[in-house]
Amino acid sequence: MNSNPVVILGVTGSIAAHKAVDVASQLTKQGCAVRVAMTPDAQRFVTALPFKTLSRHRVVTELFDEQEDWKPVHIEWADEAQLMLIAPASANTLAKLAHGIADNALTCMALALNSKAKLLLAPAMNGKMWLHPATRQNVSLLRERGAEFIGPEEGSLACGYEGVGRLWPVEAIVNQALKLLHKTN
Ligand SMILES: Cc1cc2nc3c(=O)[nH]c(=O)nc-3n(C[C@H](O)[C@H](O)[C@H](O)COP(=O)(O)O)c2cc1C
Repeated sequence: MNSNPVVILGVTGSIAAHKAVDVASQLTKQGCAVRVAMTPDAQRFVTALPFKTLSRHRVVTELFDEQEDWKPVHIEWADEAQLMLIAPASANTLAKLAHGIADNALTCMALALNSKAKLLLAPAMNGKMWLHPATRQNVSLLRERGAEFIGPEEGSLACGYEGVGRLWPVEAIVNQALKLLHKTN
């Protein structure tokens, strides 16, 4: 593994978004240079502040307002990354990734991701959303293109139902991310 591999941590609008704070913290402690990109709806669940503090780096939340230099941040990070981990990955963002939609900073980064970088997706959603044929097809498309999935797991869901859709345990997501980084280098 490079001394400080660049990991884009994408956070989407899921009730599990708060768990991504721990993902950012653990990856940073493991020596990764964590770059957090949040969708607009992710910010309804958790603010950028804990990510900024724990990753010790600016957080990208808006596609058009965050540019400090001539190069768009979503391209700069996509060029630099060894891994893009989206945790939690919402049904909506999975659908966008499957169909090449680039309408926010996170989805632009995913589409612009350099070809050596791995894409690891940790979905979290209501069980019916996960099992819907549209989501099944989106997951298949993404797998065919080389994206890796971790989870979701079965259990009691925040929406009040039991089923498959819980975010995979944070420690296992972090371990899988580190494993992929070791494979890359
Ligand atoms: C309380 C609440 C919890 C939600 N949790 C999830 C979730 O866990 N997974 C999911 O796919 N969508 C969830 N949604 C719906 C998403 O927030 C919605 O589809 C949103 O547009 C996702 O946007 P994004 O993919 O750009 O972040 C939830 C919505 C609400 C109101």
